[in-house]
Amino acid sequence: MSNPAPVVVANIKSNQTWEESQDWINTVGNRAKDFKGTIIYCPSYPFLSGAKQLIDAKAFSIKLGAQDISKFNGGAYTGAVAASQIKDLVEYAIIGHSERRKHFGETNENVFKKVELALENNITPILCISDISQLGEYLKKGELLKENWDKIIFVFEPPSAISGGGEFKPDDPEDANKNAGEITSKIGKNVTTIYGGSINDSNVKSFFSQNNIHGGLVGQASVKPDSFLKLIENATI
Ligand code: PGA
Repeated sequence: MSNPAPVVVANIKSNQTWEESQDWINTVGNRAKDFKGTIIYCPSYPFLSGAKQLIDAKAFSIKLGAQDISKFNGGAYTGAVAASQIKDLVEYAIIGHSERRKHFGETNENVFKKVELALENNITPILCISDISQLGEYLKKGELLKENWDKIIFVFEPPSAISGGGEFKPDDPEDANKNAGEITSKIGKNVTTIYGGSINDSNVKSFFSQNNIHGGLVGQASVKPDSFLKLIENATI
């Protein structure tokens, strides 16, 4: 049986214009009114403010997230967007995505700092974990994850399964479930664990019906509103 209230994160990456972003919010907001789960829309930074105004004005039940935050909490850091600057716009921030590691030199050290800053600014980290050894590295740094386990969404997302940017191979849902379960057992609490990598409307059910997978981080299939709507419709059937 599917989880009746999955957390579904739309990671739009560097896609959508502002027109497309407004169309996404209006289309999904109007047509997903009966969805029992949580939709977290993560557009590019420049659209966050307008997106929040639109969502609030229409009273849509879409939550907003950033795709990253700075490892600094404000100051002289050209080009960086601090958690303290967007804390009134977003409830969530994706942290430690493997594309940030691959293309922007993100390190475990940075990721850990960003989790701290997100929590300090009342932003829920959507913390990406590429493999279980990475979680082990974070846990060595201290009790932060264990102490804040209920304020963090953990994502198991193997880079090899992420679509776009070269070769990829969708994961086996049972393997994904085993890895998501490892996160729970390493943290030692009943954490929210979602899965990411090539989720689409055809395979969503096979992932979301696993007992340790409480939702998904969706890239490619979330960019067009119709494709995202089909995905969430199939997620709970
Ligand atoms: P994908 O991306 O769904 O296109 O594989 C997921 C992600 O990178 O968050």
